[in-house]
Amino acid sequence: MIVLSFPSSRSLARKIAKRIGAKFSEIEVKYFPDMEAYVRIKENLEGKDVIIVQTLAQDPNEKIIQLLFSSLTAKNLKARKVIALIPYLAYMRQDKMFKKYECVSAKALAKLIEASGIDAIFVLNPHLHRIKNLDEIFSIPSFNVSCEKEIADYLKKNFSKDEWILVGPDIESKPILKRISEISGFDFIVLRKKRFGPKEVKVFGKRKMKKKNAIIIDDIASTGVTLIKTIKLLKKLGFKKFYCIVIHLLSEDLLKEIKKYSQIVSTNSVQNKTSKIDVSKSFADAIKLYLTQKSIREIDELF
Ligand code: R5P
Repeated sequence: MIVLSFPSSRSLARKIAKRIGAKFSEIEVKYFPDMEAYVRIKENLEGKDVIIVQTLAQDPNEKIIQLLFSSLTAKNLKARKVIALIPYLAYMRQDKMFKKYECVSAKALAKLIEASGIDAIFVLNPHLHRIKNLDEIFSIPSFNVSCEKEIADYLKKNFSKDEWILVGPDIESKPILKRISEISGFDFIVLRKKRFGPKEVKVFGKRKMKKKNAIIIDDIASTGVTLIKTIKLLKKLGFKKFYCIVIHLLSEDLLKEIKKYSQIVSTNSVQNKTSKIDVSKSFADAIKLYLTQKSIREIDELF
């Protein structure tokens, strides 16, 4: 068993390798002058089970090419099984044809991943909205790895549930908030959101709450507009203190604006200076179960 990764997922991949007791090796990637990618695996993979860790954020198209080239290469080098750990699975928000003749990117990417020979994938809290489960778009075994436990532990360690309430910006955040609330004992509310464009968002909600400190939790922060609009609405509702927790923080550019209103932390799904919540244990536990040949149903029930 060997864990491979590209530089951007190195830190998480090393932790996962350590937890499952596997060797870690970094894949070499270079660029030709015209920006074509060169990928080289520095190990003999013959007969081995190979785990490739690659998060598809911050230049997702480039990261996708790296993932596809490395899995095809691993298969070429006679790896027994190639398992992809994809902390952030890109393109899940384009999950239907919004306009006639559009590419449904979530399905297109799933097809490319399968065509590259990957035998199974594990994704951290995939953005599931109109697609309800990964197996709607993947025919290979696909598993959701959840980090609600890690977020709940972070809350219990750093906040008092008598003073803070959890806030989800939109209805899609509800399952995550509900699960975190069940584990941590913190109360939660969920607001409503309408998006008019990539940076045009309106967040609605009327409820006045006794607690005046809000921990806003969302699966993705991309432009940061959702978090900012949520904080602005909560301010109007009389909230005083704010804190943001994001599973997949896609860009550090949003931090300057957010930090005017709130502290923010994220998981190490995407390595950032905000990555304070480590998800390596959830990935390692999921992989261990898979490798002990538990049935897919048993793994699904656990995560
Ligand atoms: C959307 O449904 C997601 O859960 C996030 O709320 C959204 O992707 C955040 O994007 P942004 O930071 O650009 O508002």
